[in-house]
Amino acid sequence: MTAGIDDISIYIPRLYVDANDFAEARGLDPAKLQKGLGVSKMAIVDTNQDPACLAANACLSVMQNNKLSPEDIGRLYVSTESSFDESKAMNSYVIGMLEQVYGQGAFEHCGGVETKFACVSGSYALYDNLNWIRAGEAEGKAALVVVSDIAKYDLGSSGEMTQGAGAVTMLLNDHPRLLTFDPRVTATSIRDEYDFYRPFGKETPIVHGQYSNLLYMIQVRKALEIYKDKAVSTGLIKLEPGETILDHMDYINMHLPYSAMGKKALAYLVRHEWRQLPRWKKIIQEIGMEEPVPKDPRGTIESVLRDHEFMTKDHEFTKLFTQTPEYQEVYEAKLSSSLIASKMIGNLYTASLYLGFRSSLEFEYQKGIDLEGKRVGFGAYGSGSSAMVFSGVIQPEYKEVVKSMNLEEELGSRRKLTLNEYETIHENKLGLEESILKTKHEFILVNVNTSIESRGERRYVFTK
Ligand code: CAA
Repeated sequence: MTAGIDDISIYIPRLYVDANDFAEARGLDPAKLQKGLGVSKMAIVDTNQDPACLAANACLSVMQNNKLSPEDIGRLYVSTESSFDESKAMNSYVIGMLEQVYGQGAFEHCGGVETKFACVSGSYALYDNLNWIRAGEAEGKAALVVVSDIAKYDLGSSGEMTQGAGAVTMLLNDHPRLLTFDPRVTATSIRDEYDFYRPFGKETPIVHGQYSNLLYMIQVRKALEIYKDKAVSTGLIKLEPGETILDHMDYINMHLPYSAMGKKALAYLVRHEWRQLPRWKKIIQEIGMEEPVPKDPRGTIESVLRDHEFMTKDHEFTKLFTQTPEYQEVYEAKLSSSLIASKMIGNLYTASLYLGFRSSLEFEYQKGIDLEGKRVGFGAYGSGSSAMVFSGVIQPEYKEVVKSMNLEEELGSRRKLTLNEYETIHENKLGLEESILKTKHEFILVNVNTSIESRGERRYVFTK
């Protein structure tokens, strides 16, 4: 049985911080954000929004756009790393909110859990729900997989320039209009790591930034190797001599904590794939330098990062490699459209891979490219750490959905925050009722109980 994504909806908070204002306030060169990291705006949640509201708003929009009733939905999963309760799952809050619109008990039949594994848990939730459909357990119902996060780092930290917030809901079924996933090729890699983590009770993560960048690329590469073996052994892809598995992916979507990370990770994967092929000789000639190797090629990530001579040369090599026409062609054709939304919105943690996919569909369609039958590869990464690589094929009915995608329109009129306003919100100095924006037809958080017996109970309303 086939299974895949029928539709995607997004919810992005309307407040944002402008990268140039941010750079000025922190004494940074704006080019570091705009060009170095590929960040131009970072979406920020209002005082009365939490990740559950974002998720519920994205769910409502996919349900309304597709005229779905709760009876059409068999499962609702929420994947997040911005959880605010150690026990109560975020999908239960979302169901509570949706039932304000659809009636109490309307989703009672609907199963689901909250999943957590930093930014990769949405991909695990997607995989589990696709298998639920493939196994014939869905009985004609659809699954909603919602990825929702608030990417918030400490003021003044190096992660602060890679913030953002938002939710993406994917409607999954057995007759998807957008994308059918390739069966039996999903690949995973996992390792106990401390590149980025958020201990209990801490609102912001502890991050080892450069370590996390390198680990991301190593882990995704490992998963790609496994994907390659599976794709070849299942007969999905036949590799001719001189080809790489990436040649068989028309589009590649990467996890995007900031948009330039996608470019960096793609360059890493392409470089490692091409190195074994005859075409590499020409690339090395174009670059004009040999590919550097670390002093201890079997060393740890720490030893590689400490090897300053290697890191400097490798940085130079990567820069030259990404300027070659061969890499530029791959980048422009397979990745570039997926980065557009990330630049405009910022980091969505779990949701960033799927915002990238949505972005790629919209902006490739706008170029007039026929997307039917194109294979899309996905490279997911979650700190802590695990990577997943999988793929799918765009379906003949994709136009029905993609033709009405309009990111600018969906973002609506956004309100730029001053740095002072942003810092006040960031430090939680305003109450829920002191929101900057007044919203209509959206779920908002109106109360968090502080009494001893009901501490932490949250109340939401759907604004009229
Ligand atoms: N003009 C143009 N470019 C500039 C520049 C300037 N004036 N100054 C710096 N740059 C470039 C740098 O060359 C660099 O580009 P390359 O990567 O191509 O070399 C880029 O801007 C960033 O500069 P630095 O590497 O010096 O930046 P940094 O060390 O201060 O911070 C960071 C970058 C480590 C990513 C930091 O923002 C961070 O810690 N972020 C949070 C962790 C993170 O996102 N990790 C990603 C992988 S883990 C993950 O993905 C999980 C998750 O979602 C969090």
